[in-house]
Amino acid sequence: MNACWRSGEKRGAPPIIQPMDERGKKEKAALRIEELRTELRRHEHLYYVMDAPEISDAAYDALMNELKKLEAEHPELVTPDSPTQRVGGKPTEGFKKVRHSRPMLSLDNAYSAEELADWDRRVHELAGNLPVEYTAELKLDGLSVALTYGPAVGGVASLVTGVTRGDGQIGEDVTTNIRTIRSVPISIPAEVLKKLGLSQGFEVRGEVVMPEKAFHRLNEEREKQGLTPAVNPRNAAAGTLRTLEPSIVANRGLVLFAYFLLIEGEYFPAGQDATLDALTALGFRVNPHRGRVHTVEQMMKFIDATEGQRAALGYEIDGVVLKVDSHAAQQRLGYTGRAPRWAIAYKFTAKSGVTQVVDIMITVGRTGKLTPTAMLTPVFIGGTTVSRATLHNADFIERMGLLIGDWVKVERGGDVIPKVAEVVEDAEHPRGTRRFVFPTKCPECGSDVVRAEGEADHRCVNADCPAKLRESLLHFGARGVMNIEGFGDAVVQQLLEKQLVNSVADVYRLDPDKLALLQKEVTRKKKDGSEETKLERLLGPVEVKKLLEQIEQSKKSGLARALMGLGIRFVGDRTAELLAQEFGSIGEIEKASKAELERVEEVGPKISEAILEFFGRERNRELVEHLRASGVDMTAQKKQRSTQLAGLTFVLTGTLPTLTRDDAKARIEEAGGKTAGSVSKKTNYVVAGEEAGSKLDKARELKISVLDEAGLLALLRSQSRSSNSD
Ligand code: IVH
Repeated sequence: MNACWRSGEKRGAPPIIQPMDERGKKEKAALRIEELRTELRRHEHLYYVMDAPEISDAAYDALMNELKKLEAEHPELVTPDSPTQRVGGKPTEGFKKVRHSRPMLSLDNAYSAEELADWDRRVHELAGNLPVEYTAELKLDGLSVALTYGPAVGGVASLVTGVTRGDGQIGEDVTTNIRTIRSVPISIPAEVLKKLGLSQGFEVRGEVVMPEKAFHRLNEEREKQGLTPAVNPRNAAAGTLRTLEPSIVANRGLVLFAYFLLIEGEYFPAGQDATLDALTALGFRVNPHRGRVHTVEQMMKFIDATEGQRAALGYEIDGVVLKVDSHAAQQRLGYTGRAPRWAIAYKFTAKSGVTQVVDIMITVGRTGKLTPTAMLTPVFIGGTTVSRATLHNADFIERMGLLIGDWVKVERGGDVIPKVAEVVEDAEHPRGTRRFVFPTKCPECGSDVVRAEGEADHRCVNADCPAKLRESLLHFGARGVMNIEGFGDAVVQQLLEKQLVNSVADVYRLDPDKLALLQKEVTRKKKDGSEETKLERLLGPVEVKKLLEQIEQSKKSGLARALMGLGIRFVGDRTAELLAQEFGSIGEIEKASKAELERVEEVGPKISEAILEFFGRERNRELVEHLRASGVDMTAQKKQRSTQLAGLTFVLTGTLPTLTRDDAKARIEEAGGKTAGSVSKKTNYVVAGEEAGSKLDKARELKISVLDEAGLLALLRSQSRSSNSD
């Protein structure tokens, strides 16, 4: 070691220092250069990727200057992967066009939990028996790039090209600019590649973003120079990457977050979560806000948490990307023209907008309820154009003091139906002029409209109001009810006009000849430019066949769906399911007394009365009879009531590792146990997860048994074994 050459050390005779020959000097320089490069790469990674610097900027600069000096003295030792060479590129003369190894696609968007649920359902349908799990990532608001690395040569794999997305097929070669981004490794040690089984070249895709601080700095500078400021960080990042002077790019503070790894144009086979881990191992910056989710509920939890952190991230995001994790499932799901079916972007959007109420219209629902609807000047909210919003009932309009012509704030929450939140009144938004008078006659059939004592709703008194039948038919065939695809507005409207149906049961009496009678108006341009409107068949022979198949299929929907289809007030999907499990057949429900109905969880007096009222009417009993006679299955597997945990009360607290609070509650209740919200002497068990709070303290104080998730599951298992052997 050279330390022992220091003078002043008493270790016998000092060694004779011989003047180093040129070769020795160069060897020493080469060693030091390698040492410095390794050290600088490590600090760059700590600083730009890990966000955890170990040394000061000044210390880093000192190392860099030492390296620069040595490389200047030994230009033959300069290699392209040296940290000094990030900005080595000359000003670019223009960018070469490069075709991507596989197209860089875009993503389909979702704006609500419902849209995510639709997507999740499709994914499960298409994935068949393959297990489905999702990786949740942030949707970074930047621009995507593709980086290619060659196979390891001389112990390292080097960055070869960096290409923008372009039109998705062909992008621009911005390698010299990409090299200046410190979170992009320009060389990767061969050992790391070996560990990941990467024996050949590979490709990394990710998002280049401009952090907010860098964006503000840039705009301050631009303003000082009298230039127009950049509109947003994404535009600034895109502009920067296309700058022809790499030294400018180097100072703009761009960051790359990597999210895909491709080998020979194929995604990394171990799945998305493993891809992110592999990218981390390769030295890329991977966004730390990521998660694994299974259900829509968990997706929304991740999304809500992300929205909460959004302002503090320091860079812009515009949503969350959900990707099916397994590569096998991704392959089975495949692609539509522009986007993978296995991924979706949940976009955060403006949730409200201000617009004008141009009119108020009345719609009649399947229960005969008249709902006032605000007709709005179209406004873009939450990713869609909103042109109407529900006003619920007369009281709602009254409470708001809403006038036709008013400007209102319209909100789109988690659900898709937009709401009128308030009347807006200021200099730009003067008040409306016309009061809305609630009609006394049904706009669909002209019958009287009544408002029962103590009720907020107005209803049409006519049991045969055509609107009721129309809405009942649409409800019956709807997705999630009897699921008759193709049984939409146009078909239903025509069936009614042609008087081919008089009740919901008639759906099962349709034949191909009747369906072939349905018509639609079609307007065509003639050769001479004039327009001609003709009546044409609404459904062709193939569509007729498909619709009849769908109708036939719907007979097997089961009791819960059929119950919903009947449209009994307050009986939604969950109540229908519980009723089906409890009674097992429509006949049993029809016969049930109020007390028997109310034995079902979640059924209280309001629901039991609605059910009794429904079956009290002869026409409804006839409807049920007709459906049964048509072959509609109205039976269900009755649930065996378990008594394993009967008499035991559980309190849940904190976050359990795998079960959601609702899952845990359902499991306990299925086993006959009860759950309560607070701990008392009557509590038998407290089930505590992470970040359990005061309930856990209380349990300890009262010496109540505390279980973790595993303990709860073990208890359920042991109980079910003992009850099975009973
Ligand atoms: S995956 C083929 N993951 O969003 C799948 N994209 O709307 C598409 N983006 O062009 C890329 N964050 O620029 C993916 N975590 C993320 C993303 C992300 C932002 C961008 C990307 C893409 C656009 C699609």
